[in-house]
Amino acid sequence: MRTPYIAGNWKMHMNRAEARDLAAQLRELLAPVKHRIMVAPPFTAIETVAVTLQGSNIMVGAQNMAPALNGAHTGEISPLMLKDAGATVVILGHSERRHSYGEGDGLINEKVHLALQEGLEVILCVGETLEEREAGRVDAVVEEQLAGGLREIGASLLPRVTIAYEPVWAIGTGKTATPDDADSVHGTIRRIFTELYNSEEAEKIVIQYGGSVKPDNVKGLMSRDNIDGALVGGASLKVDSFGPIVQFNS
Ligand code: PGA
Repeated sequence: MRTPYIAGNWKMHMNRAEARDLAAQLRELLAPVKHRIMVAPPFTAIETVAVTLQGSNIMVGAQNMAPALNGAHTGEISPLMLKDAGATVVILGHSERRHSYGEGDGLINEKVHLALQEGLEVILCVGETLEEREAGRVDAVVEEQLAGGLREIGASLLPRVTIAYEPVWAIGTGKTATPDDADSVHGTIRRIFTELYNSEEAEKIVIQYGGSVKPDNVKGLMSRDNIDGALVGGASLKVDSFGPIVQFNS
């Protein structure tokens, strides 16, 4: 009953010509796909990609946004600007934002509120570092990030929220959580949703796995009960790898 959802995070890659090219190839290849697909180009290529994908089954997202609509925020991008450029989704709380740019749950929560208020969909990323995993703190970290990031977000807004579980040690490292490991944390996330909301919301929430997802490991991950999708970094930059990941079930 949960629709699979595969998203590509292009991070700081692709100029506009490259982005247009990749988007056009994906548009053609993925036209028959029935589940949800999203790509998140860097800010400068959002409009180009949105124009290229207009009327297709691929949504366009941003990788971050400011916690404000406008004003004196040098270097930041407003959700109004994202919508103006053609984005309908925003990734928030990515571990690179948390760990390289010092974003904490309070700031991420402000962004989640504003994005939802502005009608955007949100992918909220959570996940532990290697040290936290080794210290046996996976559940505690994920719980803290979910409770913090979703603070005062009412259940009526959850249809526009997706959770991405991205263990930090698996991002861009070639190390993937095993399907068992990932499925067990996804199960924990559903239990946390039962506590934060109720069992119906826990059953409905779409949870992506992220961290070195590749064409050869996507099937194993997607076959697990609690894994509903993937947030793909490196392998989303090429049609030859993102294509088969999106088409994991064909
Ligand atoms: P990766 O990145 O697939 O390159 O590990 C995932 C992510 O950071 O979203």
